[in-house]
Amino acid sequence: MHFAKLYMTPHACTIMRFICKKPGKKSIAVLRRDEKVISQCLTREYSVVIERAKGCDVWDADGRKYLDFAAGVAVAGVGHTNPAVVAAVNKQVKKALHCGFADFNAEMPVKFVETLLPLLPKHLNTTFLSNSGTETIEAAYKCARWHTKRKWVIAFDPCFHGRTMGSLSLTMARPVHRERYDPFLPVKHVPYAYPYRFDGSVDECTTASLSDLEATIKLLDNDVAAVFLEPIAGEPGYIVPPREWVRGIRSLCDEHNILLVADEVQSGCYRTGSFLAISHFNVKPDIVCLSKAIGGGLPLGVTVARKDVMDWVPGAHANTFGGNLVACAAGTAALNEMKRKRLGANAKRIGTFMIRRLDAMKERYEIIGDVRGLGLMIGIEFVESKESKRPAIEQRNAIQCTALERGLLLLGAGKSVVRFCPPLVITKQQAERGLRIFEEAVKEVVKGSKV
Ligand SMILES: Cc1ncc(COP(=O)(O)O)c(C=O)c1O
Repeated sequence: MHFAKLYMTPHACTIMRFICKKPGKKSIAVLRRDEKVISQCLTREYSVVIERAKGCDVWDADGRKYLDFAAGVAVAGVGHTNPAVVAAVNKQVKKALHCGFADFNAEMPVKFVETLLPLLPKHLNTTFLSNSGTETIEAAYKCARWHTKRKWVIAFDPCFHGRTMGSLSLTMARPVHRERYDPFLPVKHVPYAYPYRFDGSVDECTTASLSDLEATIKLLDNDVAAVFLEPIAGEPGYIVPPREWVRGIRSLCDEHNILLVADEVQSGCYRTGSFLAISHFNVKPDIVCLSKAIGGGLPLGVTVARKDVMDWVPGAHANTFGGNLVACAAGTAALNEMKRKRLGANAKRIGTFMIRRLDAMKERYEIIGDVRGLGLMIGIEFVESKESKRPAIEQRNAIQCTALERGLLLLGAGKSVVRFCPPLVITKQQAERGLRIFEEAVKEVVKGSKV
């Protein structure tokens, strides 16, 4: 039994936490204190209490070491406690922590953006700074509505764009995210092109979703401000959509004067090999949202757009902590590290190697239904059998748990997907070690001893 704790919330929603290996004494002490003072709405599946992290490794409070294929949900792209990021933070904290960028000016945020813009398509030339992924979506949403003077936006099902009320209105991933939060902002959802789960060919999947999108745009009668798109759907299961689908969305947006917003919060910053995942599809978005890895481990969000699109007036949007000096110093160092260490090339090289190995594993195990990904954004979908394609939720959970017991941190996604999103500094040896542990976990679960 892997779920040692089943919390029952008042509305009978069960929150599960994996306690695979009994946590050590120090970890248990922290968990007890945590339960008293931290709201248990967080989806913390594991009882791992992280104390220290370096590169691709993390240590818990009792000194247990783990190889990290989660990277704090794709945040530690440049590796945990990257020395260049730590040095930049140390340098900045000695000068000033905060300037109140909404009211005063400072060089560090400007320097950060000047470091970022050359990595993006040229037409994206102005930014709004914030502190998290959800805030980048809120900014994109408000900017699109301000610029177009239109009311509706379109997002996909499934998708994940965040949990504050604006971004949550777009998010359509798990019912618990939206339960009881109705009413939402004016958003229509159309199916995301998910070839593995579509009953038909890839072309039919593309056409069906694009037809739905076109019909929805027409239904909303020239009142659509923007289409929000995850170029690779993250939380819903690292779904890689067909190229023609992404290109088709761009064409429909052009035809109807609708802005295309690429949510690259998880897929950006070289995770897929290119700085932006959407460039794999040769598509140019009007607005891009970046967060997670861009802060090198500190909270930082950036909404990027064309200057003529970000035409809102002073007061139309602002915040207190956007442009925080320490976060921008960390972000500048992180971007420089990504370039200096050619992390895009490493993501491509190691990602290709891992997908090849996972494809071979798929042939060996009936429960691996699909392996997909770009660079180091890789999803493995577990099914009861290749024929039924029924999601193997229990087996997926057991595999995560067994891997953890053997020292590998994994994250789930979608219903029955394991995602690999290790730090982009990962070496081939570390990738091999992680794959070995992962396969041992799959083998053990298949043998039936672990579910
Ligand atoms: C694609 C995407 N957009 C937005 C968000 C929200 O980011 P945050 O949790 O920083 O608000 C996430 C978080 O996982 C994400 O994956």
